[in-house]
Amino acid sequence: MEKLQGENRSFWKMTEHGVSYPKLAQDIEVDTAVIGGGISGILTAYFLAKRGKSVALLEARELVGGTTGGTTAKLSSQHELIYDKMIELGGVELAKQYYEANQTGLRLIEELITEHAIHCGFEEMDSYVFSQHGTNTQNLEKEAAAYEMIGIEGGMTDSVPLDFNVASALVMKDQAQIHPVKFLHGVLREIDQMGGRIYQHTKYMGTERNGEQLTLQTDTQFTVSCRQVVLATLFPAEDPHSFYSNTMKPVTSHLTAFASPQTFVKGVYISDDAPKRTFRGAQDGDRHVLIVGGETHPTGDAKSTIERYEAIRQFAKEEFGLTDMIGYWSEHELTTPDMRPYIGPIEEGDDQMYVMTGYNKWGMTAAAAGAQLIADLITGKPNRFEELFNPQRSLPEKNKEDSGQSNDAFKSLLQRAERLEKGQADQFKQNGKPIGIYKDLNSNVHYLDLHCTHLGCGVRWNDGDQTWDCPCHGSIFDGTGEVLAGPAKQPLKKVNPY
Ligand SMILES: Cc1cc2nc3c(=O)[nH]c(=O)nc-3n(C[C@H](O)[C@H](O)[C@H](O)COP(=O)(O)OP(=O)(O)OC[C@H]3O[C@@H](n4cnc5c(N)ncnc54)[C@H](O)[C@@H]3O)c2cc1C
Ligand code: FES
Repeated sequence: MEKLQGENRSFWKMTEHGVSYPKLAQDIEVDTAVIGGGISGILTAYFLAKRGKSVALLEARELVGGTTGGTTAKLSSQHELIYDKMIELGGVELAKQYYEANQTGLRLIEELITEHAIHCGFEEMDSYVFSQHGTNTQNLEKEAAAYEMIGIEGGMTDSVPLDFNVASALVMKDQAQIHPVKFLHGVLREIDQMGGRIYQHTKYMGTERNGEQLTLQTDTQFTVSCRQVVLATLFPAEDPHSFYSNTMKPVTSHLTAFASPQTFVKGVYISDDAPKRTFRGAQDGDRHVLIVGGETHPTGDAKSTIERYEAIRQFAKEEFGLTDMIGYWSEHELTTPDMRPYIGPIEEGDDQMYVMTGYNKWGMTAAAAGAQLIADLITGKPNRFEELFNPQRSLPEKNKEDSGQSNDAFKSLLQRAERLEKGQADQFKQNGKPIGIYKDLNSNVHYLDLHCTHLGCGVRWNDGDQTWDCPCHGSIFDGTGEVLAGPAKQPLKKVNPY
């Protein structure tokens, strides 16, 4: 398989490293523990600390190393074409609330950046959904009508500042973009200065409840005692009655970064064509960069990831003449049946454990509004978005679990392992059980039980990122089976197939 040009790493992670924080090294006691160091967890910890709560923020791996570290980082309430569908599902008032919640999130981020003078490339600009072929103009027009009903500033436009042919476009005015890792490292500094405790490489493993007292177990030998815990772990680290597993679906999208000879035109863009393409500009010192992505698919489906990156590369070449790919990466997200995230009590009536999840690929502004909502719920302040994001709201329909497996025939194991290049994997069935073979960079061969250690779905090989991806709830394991993301807490089991 041809090697892709550039680093298999997010542009944001390549261009900002931030301060390193320690691992939990003693038992601690705080008012609230926030689990997960992405935008949801960091902003929640910030708002709570700002209100005088003592907080601990626990991150299993590296801060801003999850989906937030690989997002496109558009701060936009234009979530592709969502408002027309939302009006159909719940009426104009509900769609308007969703818009206002995201606008609130955008303004909260802007205020925070201004208040703390965080240098993170925040730029206000318009947001566009466009169609190159014109086949989807009707969809854009329906969405424009929804904008009018809701009172969103924008609508159909002929003046799209792009050099290539666009048949129709819908603009939403005054949206923005940032460098997410720079922004959140700035917020982490503020949490630190307010006395918040921040830990990396400290995985939450479970909660013991003793009356009002919660004791959180971690993968260190130390615990965190607290009154409330917020699970901001992309997929919730607890899943009572499998509600979250049964109603959310994981998706994966792919992004690339290209060096560009000039500043990229203003605006953040996504197409409504098939295949969809998303793009925005970015800077690395004097270097101009274009972030281009798309190819969203159910996590762990069978198609080659390398082919997906190739398709994006081709688009960047054809439409922008860009060929210098400096990075490529994949990220994961969870979708909900009504396109609204779940932000609130993990279960009805629980005022100690909260979740923030299911952002449907548009969590940057929603997480900011959600972080304020969680801080309000914990400190007993009313919040007008409580019902909008309430995980216990009634849902239109439930997703059906898909735990389908590929049916590889068993072949000679030794031959299969020998044929593998370093960094490649293969899979087969033995007595009906799916087994993965991975050859690491030192040519060691690892045999893995491909049942995800979360709830047992079959993981599948992602050749572009060299990971095992679970299609059920989005756990991601490296080639050797170690957990990289998702609800799984344990690595894939090693097996001896001989
Ligand atoms: C390719 C892509 C592009 C996107 N582009 C945009 C965009 O332009 N605009 C937009 O609004 N949204 C966008 N989104 C969505 C947005 O990026 C996400 O909704 C958002 O980043 C989610 O943030 P989070 O903090 O909830 O999750 P994450 O950033 O994933 O953070 C969760 C953290 O929890 C940690 N964790 C997990 N389990 C544990 C545990 N047991 N103990 C301790 N820590 C744990 C993880 O390591 C991780 O760091 C995009 C999504 C994708 C996939
Ligand atoms: S992530 Fe839930 S079964 Fe794999």
